[in-house]
Amino acid sequence: TDRYCVFGHPVGHSRSPAIHAAFAEQTGEAIDYTAIEAPLDDFAGAWRDFVAAGGRGANVTVPFKEDAYRLCDALSPRARRAGAVNTLILADDGGTRGDTTDGLGLVGDLRRHGVALAGARVLVLGAGGAVRGVLEPLLEAGPARLQIANRTAAKARALAADFADLGDVSGGGFDAVEGPFDLVINGTSASLGGELPPLPDALFAPGATAYDMMYGAEPTVFLRWAEACGARGIDGLGMLVGQAAESFYLWRGKRPDVAPVLEALRQAL
Ligand code: ATR
Repeated sequence: TDRYCVFGHPVGHSRSPAIHAAFAEQTGEAIDYTAIEAPLDDFAGAWRDFVAAGGRGANVTVPFKEDAYRLCDALSPRARRAGAVNTLILADDGGTRGDTTDGLGLVGDLRRHGVALAGARVLVLGAGGAVRGVLEPLLEAGPARLQIANRTAAKARALAADFADLGDVSGGGFDAVEGPFDLVINGTSASLGGELPPLPDALFAPGATAYDMMYGAEPTVFLRWAEACGARGIDGLGMLVGQAAESFYLWRGKRPDVAPVLEALRQAL
């Protein structure tokens, strides 16, 4: 049986083992997938040990996505651009390939919900690693414009400059936000502390969607606020299952059906 895992710290609450077990059953692929807490100071050693023990690939979550990026022998163009790796693949020659599937997970989830990206006015909140990781597939979907707003305005401007070749993308502080938007994506970690970025009420165009990359048993503060403003709210659980499905595809060449796994996970939240 081929071995896979998710590396994180902490990693005990990860849903990835349950998700990949469901994918394996669905596709008839015999894989063993566990959660491994890697030491903060030696991620590369944890990956080497896992490979020595028969590991074929891994997912990588907080706080190791940049460590994973650095240890790869080869990177996909989208991982290079994201500066982060969430999927490690052991190549036939024994080298390590790195890819990132977070952005595909997000864009796939938006598609599943029927949210149009082509021609849309999009606002992205946050300018950290989570946002950098999804910008390429978002911009490739052809929004009319994409504005990045962040507490630290300079980080949003720098991020916009890095992706300027892919479309009409601008960056600034929350005070520079100019709506209305058809889609607002929350990629800040503010939800974790129950906080809401300072945003104008008149942010959403009629029929707009609010997407939070976070999820939980209860709607996040951001989604509660957005729904009170009249937007349709979607949380990040589908992105989580979607990125897992794309990783599974990279390893096994089979793309699992996300919907039933997402539904079961939602029930269990
Ligand atoms: P991640 O990997 O989740 O993106 P990160 O790279 O540390 O983590 O980025 C966290 C993001 O959440 C940043 O955009 C951060 O804003 P700053 O760049 O100004 O630090 C944002 N963030 C965190 N807490 C926030 C809060 N309370 N209000 C607004 N933004 C917040």
